[in-house]
Amino acid sequence: MNLVSEPLIGTDVERAAALLRKGKLVAIPTETVYGLAANAMDSTAVAGIFEAKNRPAFDPLIVHTHSFDEFRRFAEAIPADARRLAEALCPGPVTFILPKHSIIPDIVTAGLPTVGLRVPDHPVALDLLRSLGFPVAAPSANPFGYVSPTTAQHVADQLGDRVAYILDGGPSRVGIESTIIDFSLETPRVLRLGGLSLESLEQMLGHELHVKLSSSRPAAPGMLIAHYAPAKPVRVGDLDALLAEHAGERAGVLAFSSHRNAIDPSLQRVLSPAADLREAATNLFGYLRELDAMPVDVVLAEWLPDEGLGRAINDRLRRAAASTATDHKGEAR
Ligand code: TXA
Ligand code: MG
Repeated sequence: MNLVSEPLIGTDVERAAALLRKGKLVAIPTETVYGLAANAMDSTAVAGIFEAKNRPAFDPLIVHTHSFDEFRRFAEAIPADARRLAEALCPGPVTFILPKHSIIPDIVTAGLPTVGLRVPDHPVALDLLRSLGFPVAAPSANPFGYVSPTTAQHVADQLGDRVAYILDGGPSRVGIESTIIDFSLETPRVLRLGGLSLESLEQMLGHELHVKLSSSRPAAPGMLIAHYAPAKPVRVGDLDALLAEHAGERAGVLAFSSHRNAIDPSLQRVLSPAADLREAATNLFGYLRELDAMPVDVVLAEWLPDEGLGRAINDRLRRAAASTATDHKGEAR
C-alpha cells in the first residue's frame, strides 16, 4: 500500500492521462490560461466540471483536441473560412464554433447545436491529448466568474480541493483566453476577443469580422457582461482621474506602462513597462490576483490602447468592473 500521498501539482503527463481516463478532473496548462479538463465523451466526468466551478449549466464548454484533423470527428460541417483559418492557426489561441456532431454529449455544449473546438498551443497539453485518444472539455480552471489562472499555483489556490491533479506546464505564455469565432452562422462572428488579435484574424481572412461580444440575457452562453472579476471592486478609466476620485480610500493600482509617483509602489502593478500589449496580456490575471490580495478597498485600472491584444485586455477590465457595479459583494462567483 502506498502511504505517501501523491503531490497535487506535478509534471507527470501519464498520471494526468490515467486520471482523465478514470473520469477525474485534471487541471491542464495551455498557452492562454489553465483549463479544468475532463473526458469530453464522458457526461458524468463533464458534470464534475460544472460542479467544481459552480458554473451554470447553460454555459457551454470548449472541446480541446490535439489537431485540426480531429475537428472532422466532432463538427458536422467545417465552412471554407473556418478551414482556412484553422489550418493556419491550429495549434493556437483561437476557438472555432462549429455545428456540433452528435457524438459530443449535450452537457458539453449546454444543449446548443454548436460546439467550440480548439487546439491548444502548449507542448504538454498536446502530449497529453495525443496520448488520450479522446478530447477534453475544459473551461478556464477558476471558480465561475473569477479571474482565470495562468499558473498551476493559481489553480491550487482556488480549486485545489476539487481536482485530482494539476499538470504543471509553467506560466501561460499568452495569459488571456482564446479568441472565439462563431462559424456556425452565415457570416462568421467574433464572440470573445482573446489571445489572437482581431487585426491578425481579419488580415488572414482578407475581410472584416463582425464582433458581437456581450449579452445581458442570462440564458445566453458565456460572454456575461459581469465576469473575470477579482473579489475586490474594480474601477477602470483614466487613472489620474480615478485616483483623484478615490483619494480617501486604500487603492491598488493596475497601470499600463508607468508607475504613479504619488502612490505607494507596493500597491501598484505595471502591466508592461515597455508598453508591449503581449507582455501586458501575460501579466494581466496574475496582477489582478496580486492586487486582490493586497490590503486595499478598491482596484483602480487604466484603459490600454484599444488595438491588438489591448482590446481583449480592455474587454476583461470592463467585465471585471461591471461585476463590481452589479452584484458584487466580495464573493467569487
Ligand atoms: O483559452 C481558452 O479558451 C481557455 C483554455 C482553457 O482553453 N478556455 C476557456 O474556457 O476560456 P471558458 O469555459 O472559461 O470560456 C469559454 C467560453 C464561454 O464563455 C462559453 O460560453 C463559450 O466559450 N462557448 C463555448 N462553447 C460555445 C458555443 N458552442 N457557442 C457559443 N459560445 C461557446
Ligand atoms: Mg472562463
